Amino acid sequence: MTVEFYRHQLGEAEAASWARVLETLFLTLGPQVAAFEEDLGKFLVRGREGTPTPFVVGTSCCSMGLLLALRALDVGPGDEVITTPMTFAATTNAILHLGASPRLVDVEPETGLIDPAAVAAAVGPRTVGILPVHLYGQLADMRALRAVADDKGLFIVEDSAHGIEMERDGVRPGDLGEAAVFSVYATKNITSGDGGAVVTRAARMADRLRRLRNHGVSRAAAERHGGVYRHWDLVELGYKANLTDLDAAMLRPQLSRVEDKRRKREAIVLRYESLLRERLTDMAGGPPARCRVPWLVERRGQSSHHLFTVHAKPGQRDAVLATLGSAGIGTAVNYRAIHLLTYLVEVLHLPRGSLPVAEEMGDRTISLPMYPTLESRAQERVVEALTEAWG
Ligand SMILES: Cc1ncc(COP(=O)(O)O)c(C=O)c1O
Repeated sequence: MTVEFYRHQLGEAEAASWARVLETLFLTLGPQVAAFEEDLGKFLVRGREGTPTPFVVGTSCCSMGLLLALRALDVGPGDEVITTPMTFAATTNAILHLGASPRLVDVEPETGLIDPAAVAAAVGPRTVGILPVHLYGQLADMRALRAVADDKGLFIVEDSAHGIEMERDGVRPGDLGEAAVFSVYATKNITSGDGGAVVTRAARMADRLRRLRNHGVSRAAAERHGGVYRHWDLVELGYKANLTDLDAAMLRPQLSRVEDKRRKREAIVLRYESLLRERLTDMAGGPPARCRVPWLVERRGQSSHHLFTVHAKPGQRDAVLATLGSAGIGTAVNYRAIHLLTYLVEVLHLPRGSLPVAEEMGDRTISLPMYPTLESRAQERVVEALTEAWG
């Protein structure tokens, strides 16, 4: 039995929505992008009567969204942005592309989330902002991070690639940061293959993001359409990094299913935990842990349950991955500590031992198959294969 790591659930609603765009004039930066931005803004304030809807700017991906958000906050050469080593390359790349330096600090051992105390200790004269990652779908401690940011005069850009649906201590992505950035990449909880969005509460920042995603020109084609031709101007150096109407149209029907799918993923997490507890884990202090399940240790707030990870015994992770692969089980590693990757070794000069918690996690972590349609039998197969791999 093969168990895929991920399967999307796009179907008739998305296909029909996509096809309708083909009958219209604008395929990109048109009315579907605007409608998706409005829908996502409303989703982010769901259940909060009277709360103003934040501004949302659709982007070609989260990677570009992060870059645009940092640019809109005037990050540039000489600046330092504090971030986490438990992340994808997009997070540090965004900082580096602007000529700024990522300052990596260690993560909390229970969750893999950036440690606010480590952030506070790392703030230096060149620090301009904090870039936390809501790892696996769990919000970082935004209240603590906001307190540090306010105390030191820093901005926060949240890497919220792992979900739009998370909440912790009454805080959602974009509530306390100057901006939060989402991904709708192929394996994300809502997807159009590639795409992203930046959310902000500041109108001026939203305007700047809209300009920056479209080369830095003063008016997009849809805004220029109709009536007498009006010239556009190039007012700053931007990027080509917008969402398309085809992608936006595919995303819109998915928003109404987010909560239903989140509940399904939560049920899958609970089932994994109970299967693993029976077979493999020694979580309640029992010796010796063969497999550590981070979710069992700490569950803080409402997770989007984007990824489900287990930790192999030190030194065994890659052998376990190989055995699972041979058994037809799809896996991933999210993530090897980023400062140990070749390019970042060259530019950051952080040797092994610099960020021990992230390094240990990065050496041990395995992401298991995780999506709402994952069947119970398939989950059992995954845990059986894990049991065999552990020997
Ligand atoms: C933590 C994190 N940040 C950023 C990204 C980049 O997202 P995108 O592929 O939409 O650019 C990813 C993608 O997987 C991610 O996992």
